[in-house]
Amino acid sequence: MLRRSESSVATAAEVDQRLAALGGQFRDRFSQADSEQELRLARADVLGKKGALTGILKLMGAVPADQRRQLGERVNGIKAEVEAAFNDRLAEIRRAEREADLNAAPFDLTLPGRVPALRGHLHPIRQMRDHILEIFQSLGFEIAWGPEVELEVNNFTKLAFPPDHPATDMQDTFWVKVEGAPSDVRALLRTHTSNVQVREMSTHPPPMAIVSGGAVYRRDDDITHSPMFHQVEGFLVDVGISFAHLKGVLTEFAQRLYGRGSRVRFRPSYFPFVEPGAEMDIGCVFCDGDEARRPSCRVCKGTGWVEVLGCGMVHPLVFAHCGIDAEKYTGFAFGVGVERLAMLRYQVPDIRIFFENDPRFLAQF
Ligand code: DAH
Repeated sequence: MLRRSESSVATAAEVDQRLAALGGQFRDRFSQADSEQELRLARADVLGKKGALTGILKLMGAVPADQRRQLGERVNGIKAEVEAAFNDRLAEIRRAEREADLNAAPFDLTLPGRVPALRGHLHPIRQMRDHILEIFQSLGFEIAWGPEVELEVNNFTKLAFPPDHPATDMQDTFWVKVEGAPSDVRALLRTHTSNVQVREMSTHPPPMAIVSGGAVYRRDDDITHSPMFHQVEGFLVDVGISFAHLKGVLTEFAQRLYGRGSRVRFRPSYFPFVEPGAEMDIGCVFCDGDEARRPSCRVCKGTGWVEVLGCGMVHPLVFAHCGIDAEKYTGFAFGVGVERLAMLRYQVPDIRIFFENDPRFLAQF
């Protein structure tokens, strides 16, 4: 169906009149536009879907056939003029823009870049863990990893904790429900990284020297205990390994961490998976050597020593549970508290600060 404007037969005169009105009008609009965007808008007013010239072209269908040809030529001529005027003005605008660009203050490629106000970095506990692992790596230990959700056998049973051992109270374990598991298969959040000993010794024959680090979990929460904290575990198994090797390696570790002058001492202690077992203390990093400060030192409580790790000779039962010949091999093992070392090193009094993630605290590392 024809629209109203087309239904009445347009005369050539009518089209002619409208073309004349369009005339040079577009030239003025084009020369007034002084950005490419404005220019394109002006062009759309003439040639766009609802543009003036487009409207005239639509009228052409209603012009009697004998006049259409001549009039069509005129319309096309004007269209070409519009396009040419548009392209001329566009070139002019671009030239002006480029000139302004060239005349503007030059961009200085040698200016230093902008330094971000806040730059992220690894968490201090992660830095400390990696630092400890690196020291042992440089002594020839290889890195291994273990899962945080672990079976009871790997966390307790094979480490020679007797079935009714108070460890589950002592270490206040988080138990994990395993849907559909038989009642004797129990899972937990590992209470220490010693599970890695079981996993590695059960799957690799000696000799081996391994370190591992990661998160461990206990139901503890006060200024020196967090329900989640980190440990680094290490162990070395070979023919002829003695307590002297243990002392040599751990003394070297303490000196690399706290300086050549640091002193260490070993005290007998009990852990079910070592015999003999010991704890290693280091000379208090705050008051060591200063008799005047020592009595009131809050870090070592006046003793001059701070406990940093548990260690011992791997118990023959652990070897047996992991399929290693305890007659042939001996080995030592140790477990270090990462937060504890970080608290000592950075003089942080409350372990919980590490996990609050306050940027004012973290930015200091
Ligand atoms: N697993 C012990 C704990 O979390 C630390 C420990 C003690 C690890 C003696 C050892 C070791 O490897 O030999 O308290």
